[in-house]
Order: sequence, then C-alpha cells, then structure tokens
Amino acid sequence: MKLELESVRKSFGGVEVLHGVSLTGEGGQVVAVVGANGAGKSTLIKVLSGAHPLDSGTLLLNGERLALRNPRDGIVQGIRTVYQELSLVPELTVTENMLMGELPKKAGLIDWKAAHQRAQEILDQIGFSGIDPHAKTRQLSVAKQQMVEIAKSLVAEPRILILDEPSAVLAGSDLDALFALVRKLTAGGTLVIYISHRLVEVLELADKIIMMKDGATIAELEPAKTNEDEMIHLMAGRKVDQIYPTRREDFGQALLRVDHLARPGEFEDISLQVRAGEVVGLFGLVGSGRSELAETVFGARRPVGGQINLGGQPLRARTPKAALRRRMALVTEDRGHTGLVLGMSVRDNVILATMKGPLLRMRRASARAAQRIEQLSIKPADCAARPVWQLSGGNQQKVVLAKWLEVAPQVLLLDEPTRGVDMATRIDIYRMVDSLARSGMGILLISSDLTEAIGASDRLLVMREGTMAAELDPASVTEEEVLAYSIGTPT
Ligand SMILES: Nc1ncnc2c1ncn2[C@@H]1O[C@H](COP(=O)(O)OP(=O)(O)OP(=O)(O)O)[C@@H](O)[C@H]1O
Ligand SMILES: [Mg+2]
Repeated sequence: MKLELESVRKSFGGVEVLHGVSLTGEGGQVVAVVGANGAGKSTLIKVLSGAHPLDSGTLLLNGERLALRNPRDGIVQGIRTVYQELSLVPELTVTENMLMGELPKKAGLIDWKAAHQRAQEILDQIGFSGIDPHAKTRQLSVAKQQMVEIAKSLVAEPRILILDEPSAVLAGSDLDALFALVRKLTAGGTLVIYISHRLVEVLELADKIIMMKDGATIAELEPAKTNEDEMIHLMAGRKVDQIYPTRREDFGQALLRVDHLARPGEFEDISLQVRAGEVVGLFGLVGSGRSELAETVFGARRPVGGQINLGGQPLRARTPKAALRRRMALVTEDRGHTGLVLGMSVRDNVILATMKGPLLRMRRASARAAQRIEQLSIKPADCAARPVWQLSGGNQQKVVLAKWLEVAPQVLLLDEPTRGVDMATRIDIYRMVDSLARSGMGILLISSDLTEAIGASDRLLVMREGTMAAELDPASVTEEEVLAYSIGTPT
C-alpha cells in the first residue's frame, strides 16, 4: 500500500495555509510529521482524512487518485484519524462513542451486551487501563478521553491511521501501550502518520520524519541521522543551548500553603507549600488526582476538609472569583472547556479574566492583547481579532497562558501548560516561568511530562492515587525514581 500526497494547497478565507505540500508513505511505516505550532500539520492531515477538501494537488492511494469530500469518504478508504481536538460526544457512553454507526444488532434492535463487550475487547487489546465502556465520556479525564478516541479509530483495522498529538496527555503505561499499538499496527501493514512535539518520541518511533514550516515541507529526515537539537534548530531557525533554565535558589515566605486538603474519591490529606520565587513541580500519572487538587485549591471544586492559606492569610471563600481577587490564577489543561471561549476573539479571551465590565477601553484591550501575542509569539501575528478556534492547537494553549498572565498573579497554578506546544515555544515558556518566579511569584507546575517536571522545578512533589507519595530534589533524582514513586514501587 502506497500513499502519495503531491503539491497540496489549501486556503482558508483567501489565506493560503498549505503551499504545495508533498508527503509519501508505505504500509508498515511510521511517518512522523513535525513542525512548530501553526506550521500546518493538522491542516495537512485533515486534507488527508477528508475533513478539508484540498484546493489543488493530488492524493494517490496505490497510484489511484482519490477525491475525498468528507471524513466518511476517508473512512471508506480505510483512513482513520484521531484529531488533535477531542471529538467525543460527552453525553454518550464510551461504547456509543466508539461504535457509533456500527453498533451490533440482534433482531433489528441494538445488542447492548455485545456492544459493550466489543468496546471492552478493543480497549483490552490496546492495553488501555481502567476505562468503563458504560461510562459517559464527559465523566472521563482528558487522558482517558484521548484513549477512547484512539480505541474508536481501531474498530475496523485501518489501512492508514493518522494520530495528531496522541501522546500529549498520556504518560507511563498508557504511553507504552500507545507505542506498542503503533508497532503492532505497522507490523500488520498499516501506515501510521504520527504528529508529535515530543521529539524524543518521534526519534524512537518513526521510520522517517517530515518537517513542516510555515505551510511547506522543508526537510525529510532519517531518525538515525538526526537528533533533538538539530530538529529544534531546523524548526525554529535558531540554536538552543539549554532547554531548562538554571534552578532558582533564593526563596521567600510561603505564598501558598495547603494543609490536609481532601476530597474523598479524588485525593486525601494533601499538604504542600509554594514559596515566593519557587517553582514547585507536581508530577503524577492520570488518575493521581493532580488536576482535581489544582481545581480545588483554585476554588472550582469544594474541599471536604483542610485549609488553604494565601500570602499568610486563610482563604475562606472557596470560589475561583475569591482566588482571583487574592491573585491566585489557574491555567487549566482542558483549554477547550475551561480555558477559552472558542468563538470569541483572541483579544477578548486574553482580557477576559481581568475585564471589569464594559469600561475597559477597546484601545487598551488591544494594546494588552498585542503585547501578549508578541511576548508568547502567538501565530499568526495578526490574530487579535480572529476567533480562537481558527488558531492551531499549540497557539490556543498560548492564549490560555496569556489570559492568566494578565491577572498578574502572586500564585500561579499551571496545569500542563506546555501540552501541545512546540519545543521552541516550550523553551520560551520555561524562560517565562523562570523570570516570573525570579520576580517573586510562587508557581505550582503540574505536569505529566517527566522530563519537564524534573527539569523545570526547584522541588518536586509526586502524587499517586490521590495521596502525596514523595517530595524529591529534582537536581539529584532520576526519571526512573520519580516514575517508581508515581506507580508505588520505589526501591
Ligand atoms: N479553519 C481555519 N480557518 C482559518 N485558519 C485556519 C483554519 N484552520 C487552520 N488555520 C490556520 O492554518 C495555520 C496552520 O494551522 P494548523 O492547525 O494546521 O497548525 P499545526 O501545525 O497543526 O499547529 P499545532 O502544532 O499548534 O497544532 C494556522 O495559522 C491556523 O491559524
Ligand atoms: Mg495541530
């Protein structure tokens, strides 16, 4: 099986986003597509899946020309896609989402028993743990939803499987399961197209790497003959000497103190401190309770017991509003639901949290937004008036960050701030976190990216199944040790 995309062009509203992109792949291969945020990766795979009809160029499968008008056409050809934005129907169960349109029937009626069984079988085959086929998908964490999306694409064995940032929210054994799955599918002759900003992962998995920049393919690389530094250099057009800034050393008083906080079923007896000038890392696998903890500290969930102190004073009113008034902000991992209003402009999203009624003048709002767009290099540079949904995934993430920086918080809770963000911009974010800390802010950095959790923090907390499993010195700890604490097998 051979796939050939040639000279593909695609415009949105008169603006050309893909300028003649070409890509080839064969059954049994993993072809990785890498590039900075906004480079055009997702647009390219949407052309390939049928979600965006191409403007010009050709798409050949085994030498035959395909004209895909919609994703259905793609599916008929055996092309399955896991999009970057999750697309499950929240009110439906895991089984309904996975088997939508293909639910087994008996005597004209849906055979639910067989359906749940089939869904469970697929999940088990992949090795994704702890997902109940009967659960409504809205009850699942972002990571579990991602697993369901992947499982859904495997209901019929695909000829071509496209994965757009599948690993951004996975860690530990679930990430291993994903890799094993990719290897199994390619061994069976499937072509896997794999998009990721985690370059180490790409180097490990791919047979070849296609690099995109500004809507064009600029290089084809062989994993054995390149490395992370070279790839970042090619993508960003600049050399990086160091990914993480040096650790900070001078800390002030505790800005945030959490004592014995609990929400039964989510987490128990959690105590922690974040001092002025300090970046405290919080690592934990899916289900460890880290995001629930952050949301509770911020007031978006109600604790059952425990105290929170901010700047030495107890925080009694437990609402996000009260937290914001006391200058504590939370950057959430789920940008689509809690971070952004997708239909509103980038400018309005940036000033949303600080807006005090209609009084904030347009001109000032525009100036504030323009400054953040530049600071975080949000692309395209003229995006201020555009609705956020038009931005690429990583750039949406930067808008979330911009919005909370506007609050000028004293304590900043960052939940997966670099999810879906390209390496060069990640480095910028680490620099920014560093300079915020050095200016006296206290930062809690929640991450399921082990390298990041260790590299960017001054002190590292590890959560496991709702409890605080360890406090470690990131300067001397290894990835294996941290992982062992997070799964409960420290030696
Ligand atoms: N529907 C749309 N309307 C207008 N512009 C769009 C649309 N979809 C994408 N774009 C623009 O196309 C460009 C490429 O976006 P794309 O989502 O393909 O980037 P990407 O490489 O996937 O980035 P990321 O790593 O952030 O996911 C961006 O500038 C984006 O704003
Ligand atoms: Mg994308």
